[in-house]
Amino acid sequence: MSSGSRPTQQAIMSNGESPAAPAHPVAAAAPPNRVSVVLGAQWGDEGKGKVVDLLAQDADIVCRCQGGNNAGHTVVVDSVEYDFHLLPSGIINPNVTAFIGNGVVIHLPGLFEEAEKNLKKGQGLGGWENRLAISDRAHIVFDFHQAADGIQEQQRQEQAGKNLGTTKKGIGPVYSSKAARSGLRMCDLVSDFNEFSKRFEVLAKQYKSMYPSLEINIEGELDKLKDYAEKVRPMVKDGVYFIHEALHGTPKKILVEGANAALLDIDFGTYPFVTSSNCTVGGVCTGLGIPPQSIGDVYGVVKAYTTRVGIGAFPTEQNNEIGDILQTRGHEFGVTTGRKRRCGWLDLVLLRFAHMINGFTALALTKLDILDVFTEIKVGVSYKLDGVKIPHFPANQEVLNRVEVEYETLPGWKSDTSNTRTFEDLPENAKKYVHFVEESLGIPIKWIGVGKSRESMIQCF
Ligand code: GDP
Ligand code: IMO
Ligand code: MG
Repeated sequence: MSSGSRPTQQAIMSNGESPAAPAHPVAAAAPPNRVSVVLGAQWGDEGKGKVVDLLAQDADIVCRCQGGNNAGHTVVVDSVEYDFHLLPSGIINPNVTAFIGNGVVIHLPGLFEEAEKNLKKGQGLGGWENRLAISDRAHIVFDFHQAADGIQEQQRQEQAGKNLGTTKKGIGPVYSSKAARSGLRMCDLVSDFNEFSKRFEVLAKQYKSMYPSLEINIEGELDKLKDYAEKVRPMVKDGVYFIHEALHGTPKKILVEGANAALLDIDFGTYPFVTSSNCTVGGVCTGLGIPPQSIGDVYGVVKAYTTRVGIGAFPTEQNNEIGDILQTRGHEFGVTTGRKRRCGWLDLVLLRFAHMINGFTALALTKLDILDVFTEIKVGVSYKLDGVKIPHFPANQEVLNRVEVEYETLPGWKSDTSNTRTFEDLPENAKKYVHFVEESLGIPIKWIGVGKSRESMIQCF
């Protein structure tokens, strides 16, 4: 088309609409601020599952947009502890439709095992198959991706003396296949199985040549995948149209459950000790196919101290009795791998960096109750390198390993907050701690977590 025949911006504006009628009822700009987002602001396990569960009481659709079953999100309802890895946690609410977007990587056996396990625990997951939609553009994690993840870790250990500490869920390998354009998607699985089988064989052989010790029974794998294709076919939708129909029709409340966290983001995290997806706000748009204007609130979830599972720099880590108290009181064990989480004080430098990227509109400060026993509580407020204050969160891991943290010391409250349900009823020093975090970051704290259960949350405004 020559530039002369294109509709001008003025022509579009003067008619009030584009001369070309939209080809689909939703093929127009999405209404603004319809989508709320929950994101991890540290190194994961901040309590996103619990915050999502709370917000899902008032949501129609809860989405995952990135990551895979490396995530482990806990929801405690009526004393039953559910753990979600691929399924959006909001599915526990019977009125919610769950959606797994195109940015997520799906291990099908893992998905069904997770659903079965949670179904046995309580009522929450009833009818889940009819309440789950999966994007046809989501990539599939195969068993050989998971096995290759394990081999890569072993090779790193043998060749460089240290690994990344991955969850071995195949996340790095499957996102590599996606970027290399040799991955397979849900739409491939549920359409022409012969074509899918040919591409599966090519990919499996590539993996076998990269990792000769891999044992892949191609025929056997394809038999299993054919069964999964039948099971998931009714759930697979064109994800972009699915989410846009929800955006455009009768107003629906859409909630996005971030997995992993800002400092594990492939671009902004503590690379290479990160995961392989964008766990910051940009991943919401690319992982669901929605424009940025449709995003309203972006809630950051911040643990009242810091934890990290796996390898990598951790400036405020407390490799001492304080770390042990946080680990024991906080039951800090990974939900996906069962590994002990490393623990330390809250780090405001890291949180400011996460806020720059995500633009949090409010925070949920979780696990305040874990700090109940301390006489003094420290908060990392700035970093020094070779004795000189540095104004930023460094990209380079060797540098981050060398920073010296400057702390502010606040008085503890030494009393049980677990039954507190209003901000006013918190001990004075706990209020001071919350205000200090809020004022230092310039972000309002909307919720404060004081226990595992759905009820153990203080709503501040
Ligand atoms: P997620 O990955 O961000 O969803 O967090 P995880 O589920 O991996 O880890 C958070 C852990 O802390 C879970 O065991 C939660 O049940 C628990 N938890 C969440 N919020 C609170 C809180 O405010 N207080 C206490 N004591 N535990 C909490
Ligand atoms: P949730 O959603 C904590 C960490 C792993 C490892 C690194 C890379 O529960 O907060 P991967 O398997 O993704 O290649 O591992 O990232 N990691 C997490 N740590 N919580 C998570 O998710 C994590 N997802 C990945 O421990 O260090
Ligand atoms: Mg977790």
